[in-house]
Amino acid sequence: MEKKSIDWGNIGFGYMQTDRRYVSFFKDGAWDDGVLTEDANIVLNECAGVLQYAQTIFEGLKAYTTEDGHIVAFRPDLNAERMEASAKRLEMPVFPKERFVEAVTKVVEANAAYVPPYGSGATLYIRPYMFGFNPVIGVKPADVYQFRIFCTPVGPYFKGGVKPLTIRVSDFDRAAPHGTGNIKAGLNYAMSLHAIVTAHEEGYDENMYLDPGTRMKVEETGGANFLFVTGDGKVVTPKSDSILPSITRRSLVHVAKEYLGLEVEEREVYLEEVKDFAECGLCGTAAVISPVGKIVDHGKEICLPSGMTQMGPVTKKLYDTLTGIQMGRIEAPEGWIHVIQ
Ligand code: PLP
Ligand code: COI
Repeated sequence: MEKKSIDWGNIGFGYMQTDRRYVSFFKDGAWDDGVLTEDANIVLNECAGVLQYAQTIFEGLKAYTTEDGHIVAFRPDLNAERMEASAKRLEMPVFPKERFVEAVTKVVEANAAYVPPYGSGATLYIRPYMFGFNPVIGVKPADVYQFRIFCTPVGPYFKGGVKPLTIRVSDFDRAAPHGTGNIKAGLNYAMSLHAIVTAHEEGYDENMYLDPGTRMKVEETGGANFLFVTGDGKVVTPKSDSILPSITRRSLVHVAKEYLGLEVEEREVYLEEVKDFAECGLCGTAAVISPVGKIVDHGKEICLPSGMTQMGPVTKKLYDTLTGIQMGRIEAPEGWIHVIQ
């Protein structure tokens, strides 16, 4: 398979139209067979449910070229399961897990020329999503849905690659208690746009959101969960009902315990204790693990001892092991790597 002529080492996290995408419709209570199409555009009625009441959910996962030249996807079954939870919460139909994994496989195969080569630093980002298609004017779920998957080659989510980030504690909440923070719905990201734009304007890379109930505990950022490391090398990650259950974070917890022999605590983390941590990282499909060097809480700076030039040592070990598993350099736990080609 001849690769596209793309400057793989210099692409950012953006949309590049690829050749084919997968589309399936849910109508009269059932999903159709689904097709691959070259048409990147969607024609919608002006009153479509997604346009009026934001009935849309999505997923994000990646395909990689491994050291021995295969194309693989990382734990797509977990994305299917999370999308099922998101669909149920927004009264949308479930796209079956086997079909989800099969559709991911088809889209990656059909766009193999866009899968960045091993060692290029880029990966293929895969975006499954589903939305209310038919006109809806009274507040209610749609009856017709489209499920779609496209893919696009991407580089690092944060400019500067692995340079430690500066984040601020946000005055806005991204979720509500008993709300939708634990599902991957577009509405959660619409909520975060003002906060991220103003954070960037003020020179920060991201926002640290606090728990919406008490505003005393650390939740997550707009697009990643937190991992902290204590001075004695223990990994601590916030537990909350209003954060997205990150597949990267769940995988890293396993890697920390089973590959690196580290102790891991999944528990409530108070903002007050953040100053005592030695390292901090943001973890997610897009973020991989991006180190945080500084957290600013209304003018009060918390400078992580790991500093502003490189990843902390434990974060680095986690990063190297996870990416080693994803790229086939390190043996993966059973079922983590879905071989596509
Ligand atoms: N938290 C939020 C709000 C996200 O958007 C994402 C990205 O998907 C994550 C966490 C990380 O989740 P995952 O590791 O499954 O990509
Ligand atoms: C992902 O990591 O897949 C995400 O969805 C994060 C997104 C904000 C780009």
